[in-house]
Amino acid sequence: PRTAMFVYSGVLFPSNIHSAETLGYAREFPVRPDDLFVVTYPKSGTTWMQEIVTLVYSDGDLGPVQTVPNWERVPWLEQDTGRKHLEHRASPRLITTHLPFQLAPREIGQAKAKVIYMARNPRDILVSSYNFHKIAHFLEEPGTWEEFYDKFCKGKVLFGSWFEHVRGWLENRDKVDLFLVSYEDLHRDLEGVVRRLCHFVGREASDRLTEVVAAHCRFSSMKESRMVNYSLVPEQWIDHKHGSFMRKGVVGDWKTQFTVAQSEHFDELYEERMRGVIMSTSSET
Ligand code: PPS
Repeated sequence: PRTAMFVYSGVLFPSNIHSAETLGYAREFPVRPDDLFVVTYPKSGTTWMQEIVTLVYSDGDLGPVQTVPNWERVPWLEQDTGRKHLEHRASPRLITTHLPFQLAPREIGQAKAKVIYMARNPRDILVSSYNFHKIAHFLEEPGTWEEFYDKFCKGKVLFGSWFEHVRGWLENRDKVDLFLVSYEDLHRDLEGVVRRLCHFVGREASDRLTEVVAAHCRFSSMKESRMVNYSLVPEQWIDHKHGSFMRKGVVGDWKTQFTVAQSEHFDELYEERMRGVIMSTSSET
């Protein structure tokens, strides 16, 4: 049976692990100056970045990534286990959130915490999310591809509209200490991103660290790792027989799924909804 979604402040959430209480906790979360947030719209490469920041903060020691599931290492603030994992954790804490800016911790700006905002081509997010919905029984039925495409464009999907998410964070980037990076940047130049990221968080980017990240964070390695490939999640939540969380891990898969009409429609929508938003990431500036 599929879990119901609920609306909170105009945004949809899966009700199995989110509630008004957990979202309220996230909003009033006491932020520490040395917290590091990984902020993403779902399917933007969250897991990839969780793995990278873990290795950066362990100085390349593989212990944590090999023994602790990502949801414990870099917990989601807004989920029901957020408080349990984060409240008494020693600093520096690594924290994940999919929340749009207006629902993120009020203190995230003043507290001088660091924020990594990870973006991805929304067309690829759409395809990734559609495929994940087919096997993730804690999410709504995606319906047909056409139906899901339509819902995504209207923002009637979990965590709301992609356009609003990106706009919200980027239009408020002056209020937070924000490092903008994209899934496509990681594909193009993983080592370069790791070096810039280390600089951002004030850690040394040793050759050994970049080598460890390059080897361990490859799609093929992460797909095999039980600590990130979600194989630990029971069959009742994820239908492991009919797909995989670590699906393809490529750039541009949307081209195999979008019709020509959808591609043209999406270009127009993007143009209209993203007007004035500066998307240059740290690798371009
Ligand atoms: S979630 O559910 O929001 O946490 O998902 P998220 O981790 O953001 O996104 C899942 C997609 O990221 C791909 N992925 C990777 N791509 C390349 N390299 C590595 N190491 C990697 N790890 C995860 C994963 O395969 C999903 O994308 P698709 O396009 O579906 O393959």
